[in-house]
Amino acid sequence: MTQLDEAASLETLIRATVPRYTSYPTAPHFSAEVGADSYGGFLDQVAAEDGPVSLYVHIPFCHAICHYCGCTTKASRRYAPIEAYVEVLRSEIAMVAAQIGRRTVSHIHWGGGTPNLLSTAAFEAIVGDFHRLFAIGSDTEHAIELDPRHLGEGRARFLAGIGVNRASLGVQDFDPAVQAAIGRIQPAETVAAAVEQLRGAGISSLSFDLIYGLPEQSVASVRRTVETAIALAPDRISLFGYAHVPWFRVNQKLIDASKLPGSNLRLELERTAHGAIETAGYVPIGIDHFARHDDAMAVALSKRTLRRNFQGYTTDRADTLIGFGASSIGRTPAGYAQNVTDTGNWRERIVNGRFATERGRLLTPEDRLRADVIEQILCFFDADLTVIATRHNADPAVFSADLEKLTPLVRAGWVVADGGHVSIVRHGAELARLVASAFDAYLGTGGRHSVAV
Ligand SMILES: C[S@@+](CC[C@H](N)C(=O)[O-])C[C@H]1O[C@@H](n2cnc3c(N)ncnc32)[C@H](O)[C@@H]1O
Ligand code: SF4
Repeated sequence: MTQLDEAASLETLIRATVPRYTSYPTAPHFSAEVGADSYGGFLDQVAAEDGPVSLYVHIPFCHAICHYCGCTTKASRRYAPIEAYVEVLRSEIAMVAAQIGRRTVSHIHWGGGTPNLLSTAAFEAIVGDFHRLFAIGSDTEHAIELDPRHLGEGRARFLAGIGVNRASLGVQDFDPAVQAAIGRIQPAETVAAAVEQLRGAGISSLSFDLIYGLPEQSVASVRRTVETAIALAPDRISLFGYAHVPWFRVNQKLIDASKLPGSNLRLELERTAHGAIETAGYVPIGIDHFARHDDAMAVALSKRTLRRNFQGYTTDRADTLIGFGASSIGRTPAGYAQNVTDTGNWRERIVNGRFATERGRLLTPEDRLRADVIEQILCFFDADLTVIATRHNADPAVFSADLEKLTPLVRAGWVVADGGHVSIVRHGAELARLVASAFDAYLGTGGRHSVAV
């Protein structure tokens, strides 16, 4: 086996079996043990503690669904359903605020779906609620996911006016053949115009989402995509591996699976993109992010304050993330809580004055301990088990069986496990996920891992 074959089979194995750990325990291990009542209890606990909170708003609507999309969203040609959704969202925000009080907010994140589908009136109403019900300051990070194809004239200035100071743009791939194959025609000029509009409005912190592993991609085309992206000088880049799960996301049946790159090519595509981004001077962050040297995320990496959450990597250090909207996931010190996915069901619960939590996870002390180890590995590619165990008043011996699982990787020279310090020496996203999974007490105990988006 060549080195590439070996790495490709490792990648295939890991993709099939190992989560990306945007939470621990991962979403497939959430259950009905957490519902509306327990979420109320989670929030009571938040109310009793100090510290900032972060807010996530999910907008599950798009103009049309891209073939490859794995997000929880649906197409809406009419605005009426979105307007109705916003009304319920405002009730949900008021319910949470009534329970936790006027808290300082460290981050606001609008995700989706396509949040820029909201009308200016809807944005103003929700942001108005945030200001009325929470303490939002000039240092609150306020980020939004934007579809560059639908950034109308004057929109960037409007968003800057309501306090948005960071935007991530869905770029995916610039190659016309790839764009045709994934059902998303988006010329480079469209992205360049969006970038210009956002920067002109003062939203200077920009991130691009790119995807490798798409149909019709070649090493040369991916290289060109990365070069085109870098010419626009985003502050951050996310490089996702395409997750093809057509049994779970029926829209992906529109992707011709015979055109998907095989595992060797897929790995080469990742390496090509990764190498080109790094050569352009970006700092690799964890398993799939990059940032300019002076960006807050690169600084957080060097200071070891980087965190991982449902949005991927973050500089946000708040212990509580409140999720608003259908399917949104929140995290409080007590545990995770996810809203019901169906918007009708979510609406019904909220209008009846109940939280729409459908599933979640109460965290045990051992969950917290393991979550800490897994987060350290995915952020920094190493973890000091003794220090982490001490932080959680635990005995480092609890990790003995986990360390044994790493023996083949240690023998291969890919991982060093020495005196309770685990360190990945052959960097690679797939390896970091595999090492993290050695500390996952639930892996293989039912539930399928979350798709790689
Ligand atoms: C909510 S979208 C971004 C905002 C906006 N909806 C757009 O597409 O421009 C989140 C990102 O998830 C990524 N994504 C979606 N489906 C994916 C999949 N199946 N595999 C990997 N990444 C995916 C894309 O890079 C996309 O930009
Ligand atoms: S990639 Fe973005 S625009 Fe396309 S369907 Fe998914 S959420 Fe909507």
